[in-house]
This record gives sequence, C-alpha cells and structure tokens, in this order.
Amino acid sequence: MRAVVTGAAGFIGSHLCDRLLAEGHQVLGIDALTDTYDPGLKMRNVERLRLRPAFAFLGGDLLQLRLAPVLDGAEVVFHLAGQPGVRSSWGEEFATYVERNVLTTQRLLEAVHADPPRKLVYASSSSVYGQAQSYPTGESLRPLPMSPYGVTKLAGEQLCEVYRETFGVPTVALRLFTVYGPRQRPDMAFARLVRAALRGERFTVYGDGGQTRDFTFVSDVVEAMYGASRSSFTGVANVGGGSQVPLNHAIEVVQALAGPLEVERAGTAPGDVRDTAADITLSASAFGYAPRVDLRAGLSAMLDEARSRLAEEVRV
Ligand SMILES: NC(=O)c1ccc[n+]([C@@H]2O[C@H](COP(=O)([O-])OP(=O)(O)OC[C@H]3O[C@@H](n4cnc5c(N)ncnc54)[C@H](O)[C@@H]3O)[C@@H](O)[C@H]2O)c1
Repeated sequence: MRAVVTGAAGFIGSHLCDRLLAEGHQVLGIDALTDTYDPGLKMRNVERLRLRPAFAFLGGDLLQLRLAPVLDGAEVVFHLAGQPGVRSSWGEEFATYVERNVLTTQRLLEAVHADPPRKLVYASSSSVYGQAQSYPTGESLRPLPMSPYGVTKLAGEQLCEVYRETFGVPTVALRLFTVYGPRQRPDMAFARLVRAALRGERFTVYGDGGQTRDFTFVSDVVEAMYGASRSSFTGVANVGGGSQVPLNHAIEVVQALAGPLEVERAGTAPGDVRDTAADITLSASAFGYAPRVDLRAGLSAMLDEARSRLAEEVRV
C-alpha cells in the first residue's frame, strides 16, 4: 500500500508512520515543521523515519504545496496535520487554528475528491463534545465544543462528512481522546508530568486534578487508524483508552513509578472540560478496535523513553 501521512513529524503521525513501515507499506510523510513546539523534536522524528528506505519526506505547508502530484497514486491518506491544543486557541491565535485545522482539510479534500483514495482517515478530537451531556459519550450526541480548538476540529470533521456525502470520498473521522505515550507533545499534561518527575521539577495542575480523561495510549490510536483505513467503515467514530481516570490518579501512578513529585495547583484553564469518556462500541464493531495498553503500562513506557532521552542529553 502507498500511504500519505500529513503531520508525519508530529507526535501521533510519527508513531503511525512507524507502524505503516513495520507493516511493509510505502509512506510519504508531509509536515510543515511548525513552531507550535520545538521543531527540533519533529526533525528528530523525521530523521529517524528517514532511515527506512520505504519512507519519503516532503517538508511543506498543506496550504501551499501542489497537492495533486503528491497525492497521485496514494491508496490511503491519513490527515493528522493540524494545530493542536485547547488553551492557546483563544484570541488572535484562532486564525492559525482556522488555517491549520480547517483550510488545510478543505484543501486536501478538494485535491482528492475527483479521484479519491481508498480511504481518508482524519484525526478528529474528543474536544468536539465539549462538556458532554452523558458518559460514556456516543457519537450520536450533539457535539458542543467548549473551545475554539474544538470548533475547528469539528469543522474539519464536518468537511470530511460533506465531501463524503457529496462526492463519495470515503472518509473516516476518528475522535481521539487525550492521546499519550513516548514523544508526546511537550505542552501536554503527561509529558510535563514525566519531565517534572525525572528532573525534580514542580508539576503544575490546572484545576483541582479531579477532572477525568479517557487517556488513550498512542499505539492503540495507531491501531485504530490503521484498522479504520483497512475496513469498509466510513463516518465518525470514537477512539478512547477504555477507562475514565482522574488526573490526580495519573499523578499518583507516576509518583509510584518515579518517586515523589511537587505538585502546584493553578486555576482551571478556559476551554478545559471537566470530564471525557468515550463509548467505543462503534469502533469496536466497525473495525475491531480494542484498547490494549492500560495507564500504568503506558506511563511506564513514557518514563522509560524520557529517561533514555535525558541520558542522551547528559552524554551530549
Ligand atoms: N494528541 C492528542 O491528544 C490529540 C487528541 C485528539 C486529536 N488530535 C489531533 O491529532 C493530530 C496530531 O496531533 P499531535 O498531538 O500529534 O500534534 P503534533 O503537533 O505533534 O502534530 C501535528 C503536526 O502537523 C504539522 N502541521 C501543522 N500544520 C501544518 C500544515 N499546514 N501543513 C503541514 N503540516 C502541518 C505540525 O508541524 C506537526 O508536526 C492533530 O490534528 C490533533 O488535532 C490529537
């Protein structure tokens, strides 16, 4: 299979490329290496992927690249490029979110709609639900995002639906619930938590820590994306980790694994919802999704990777 992965240099995209290459597929990764966080971390992901002969990298912005030749012959397109993060999506930054989450998705769909790939898999988000009215939350619940970020992810998802309904582009939008694992974006809570634990720094919790999340390990997300790309399913489906856990519990697990940690409490950030929990009945029946990695094993893998990265930094 020839696959195109947008956002290939990012956290989830780089793991997805690893998996596709391990399955023996040809992968073209596209990424603009935006400076949302240290582009050096993204470049490291690309350099590692480039060691594989079946991987090719195209650096550039989806809003500017000539997409037709790039997508020609692609059997599956995984669209993960975007501007992530709830807290920074307010104010003037919103324009960046519109460009990177909405306009890119529309441009990509325009480029494929005349001669669509076998499947286009879009990385949507649990943030489309906002503070949901029921838990675990099913896909039929009306989405009510609570942040500008969630609004742009919902717009991207609905563009997929529009091109699917109108032109028959076989799209799948997966609503990912708080993804974590090695190489997680440095701004995300678990990455900060693990860093604080290993460096003896203070960890800042926004809110009282009682907020719950359906944390999903990155290999489970990759499995869902891969499974969805190979199934006949089209439409929207949840991808969660299988349990709803308070952030305070995750802090306890990291302390049990890595030793005591100083925790500082800050106010709740606007746009942060209180709870998330995914009903994964649909993804289980549509493409056999079943999360495999529990929180302790997932955090332990994150700590291991962070320890070896720290050791490398010390050597350099
Ligand atoms: N991490 C999560 O918990 C989570 C949850 C739900 C949904 N998502 C979605 O999954 C996707 C990947 O998230 P991530 O955490 O890996 O983020 P990430 O920031 O690590 O990866 C996104 C990548 O997209 C690239 N990019 C951004 N705009 C681009 C453009 N215009 N052209 C080309 N490349 C561009 C960035 O350089 C980056 O490498 C995003 O779309 C995000 O909204 C993530």
